[in-house]
Amino acid sequence: MTVIARDLGQPDAGRTLRAELESRGIYATGLVNNAGFGTHNALTDEDPDRLQSMIALNISALVDLSRAYIDPLTSADTSVLINVASLLGFQPTPYLSVYGATKAFVLSFTESLWEENRGTGLRVLAVCPGATKTEFYDAADSETADYGAKRVTPQHVVRTALDTLDRRSTPPSVITNGRPLALASKFLPRRLIVRFMGRMARR
Ligand SMILES: NC(=O)c1ccc[n+]([C@@H]2O[C@H](COP(=O)([O-])OP(=O)(O)OC[C@H]3O[C@@H](n4cnc5c(N)ncnc54)[C@H](OP(=O)(O)O)[C@@H]3O)[C@@H](O)[C@H]2O)c1
Repeated sequence: MTVIARDLGQPDAGRTLRAELESRGIYATGLVNNAGFGTHNALTDEDPDRLQSMIALNISALVDLSRAYIDPLTSADTSVLINVASLLGFQPTPYLSVYGATKAFVLSFTESLWEENRGTGLRVLAVCPGATKTEFYDAADSETADYGAKRVTPQHVVRTALDTLDRRSTPPSVITNGRPLALASKFLPRRLIVRFMGRMARR
């Protein structure tokens, strides 16, 4: 295994990484955009630089990596592009407002790529985990950014993603846990959902 440590929040992260891998003779047939973080505060309490870093990592790096790899991935006989979104991408997330919006972007962007690449050998999937036991909550400086939900293991998230890719027809996205929230967001009035989310996340 080759490990290359990079700050993906830097501009052109995707193109730079692909060039470096290929200079070592490594050509990918799969890309998993997993790196990301969130912060848990009202916007007035957020550090503007941290917000910029979050957008750079959660959105810009993910787009740049996807763009850098889409041509080789579509040229391969069989390939995979997984973008890690979130259950929080389905509705507004007061007190995690920027994080939730970055994940709504990832979900929308990835579902668009799913359609653009249907009928090719590339399977595109947005993975939308609910609360998961990782260091995410330390990075967010929050024990409660999970909205009180029971956390599943990362293994469960990975297993669900891989099982979904194994289906005869890969859907645009998969929710690995916490599906009732996504369903509620689909059917309840937006105003009700945003107030519920705000009440759950207020510190
Ligand atoms: N945990 C949850 O409840 C949850 C729910 C839904 C979605 N997600 C999403 O799942 C993904 C993985 O997060 P996680 O839960 O596993 O949290 P985590 O344990 O904090 O892992 C975050 C990962 O992102 C990497 N990363 C952070 N900043 C980076 C940067 N500037 N450049 C390169 N890599 C960077 C970290 O690398 P280092 O370890 O080297 O810093 C680490 O591998 C994220 O996109 C997150 O938004 C998590």
